[in-house]
Amino acid sequence: MMTPQNHDTPNMSVDIGGLLLKNPVMTASGTFGYGEEYACYVDINRLGAVVVKGVSLNPRQGNPAPRIMETPFGMINSIGLQNPGVKAFVTDKLPFLKQFDVVVIVNIFGETVDEYMRVADTLTQADGIHALEVNISCPNVEKGGMCFGTDPEIARDVTQRVKSVTHLPVIVKLSPNVTDIGEIAESVQAGGADAISLINTISGMSVDIENRRPHLQRVTGGLSGPAIKPVALKMVRDVVKRVSVPVIGVGGIMNASDALEFLIVGAKAVQVGTANFINPRATMDIIDGIEEYMMRHQMQDIRELIGTLNEGEGLC
Ligand code: SIN
Repeated sequence: MMTPQNHDTPNMSVDIGGLLLKNPVMTASGTFGYGEEYACYVDINRLGAVVVKGVSLNPRQGNPAPRIMETPFGMINSIGLQNPGVKAFVTDKLPFLKQFDVVVIVNIFGETVDEYMRVADTLTQADGIHALEVNISCPNVEKGGMCFGTDPEIARDVTQRVKSVTHLPVIVKLSPNVTDIGEIAESVQAGGADAISLINTISGMSVDIENRRPHLQRVTGGLSGPAIKPVALKMVRDVVKRVSVPVIGVGGIMNASDALEFLIVGAKAVQVGTANFINPRATMDIIDGIEEYMMRHQMQDIRELIGTLNEGEGLC
């Protein structure tokens, strides 16, 4: 899956729990559709990985509208995991992505642990999928989602059960809506997670003051975008210190500088989400920007950058 690199350019390839990516830049689930929606803007072959919108056992229509609201430096969504279901994903969506030389990661969701296992099993039997990202962090559904990601025992159990039905690398996507994200990270690592991605959105809401009603039909949603970057960065730093599996940083990454911050605190890869809605070519710009930074700092390999935060002396 990895294309050999030109010797003049730095080596940006990373190994995420046995999954080899040509560079550390992935799309974040739910912000890039199933790839096809962005193919006229982005050279999909250049991406480290495509992470597709969450897939469940049965089709889901999602929550009633309005389900997106812009906020200062971000947005709140309450989509409710709309998707065509795992069978339609495999027959109708996956063939498009299989044309490319890109790592395909499918984000999976279940209302019950059994559903997570059945989705994972079906996807494992399909050709063209390289890893699963287990979504135990969606704040917009009644059953499953965040309910599984806020209790360490349940988070470990879901991870273990998904691992039991697949040989694919399993990434577990964590919720920031917990007291101690490091504890949840340790639990999913104990359950066999090959990598951990964080953070999903932060629970929030927004009110229309004229009619005194929530802007979102379902009242609350998940906040994403630049507003959450400092929170995500701090949580990534905390989790990197607590686990040995690779950590993937997500949350408000808008440009190469943001991505570099996550890599410096120890994320081995990053996911770009809300930025895709503002600049559909954000991922391309971020790959170019990381490469430019490495060349400017005379780095030959991305490992010279990852986890190099100097916390020693503070600033003044
Ligand atoms: C949604 O579909 O509601 C968002 C997905 C997520 O937060 O995981």
